[in-house]
Amino acid sequence: MIALACDHTALEMKQGIKDLLDEMGLEYRDYGTHTPESCDYPRFGYRAAKAVADGVCDRAIILCGTGEGIGMAASKVKGTRVCIASDAYSAELSKRHNNANVLAMGARVLGVEAAKQIARAWLTASFEGGRHQRRIDMIAAIENGTFEDQED
Ligand code: RB5
Repeated sequence: MIALACDHTALEMKQGIKDLLDEMGLEYRDYGTHTPESCDYPRFGYRAAKAVADGVCDRAIILCGTGEGIGMAASKVKGTRVCIASDAYSAELSKRHNNANVLAMGARVLGVEAAKQIARAWLTASFEGGRHQRRIDMIAAIENGTFEDQED
């Protein structure tokens, strides 16, 4: 299950992502916003990120004007690894190397077709594990306050 969320700037892009998910046969849940009235992106980023952190959804795609604000908000929810992407290569690598579980994009930065291409690259990539697991374990330790740095 994929959590979707956006602010008022990204309703059209969210519909494009829904069309992509329908085409790919992937299920989603829409955490808002649902109307074009101006709203506060942290509320919606939080809801989608919490759905991932709680295991209700396995990943999320979240959208605002730039992807930055909603991505920052989502990254404050423990357990998220957020990729803010404007290109397919970064999005793909964020899954293969960083096991990103949230993808953020900007509706004032990208066209809908570009966002769909980026989302497809992210959704079809797989985490490679190995040395990358060690590194994301370090990220989790930083988040948990248990990270112990070593001498270079
Ligand atoms: C809304 O005007 C805008 O600030 C928001 O969509 C987003 O770009 C914030 O990062």
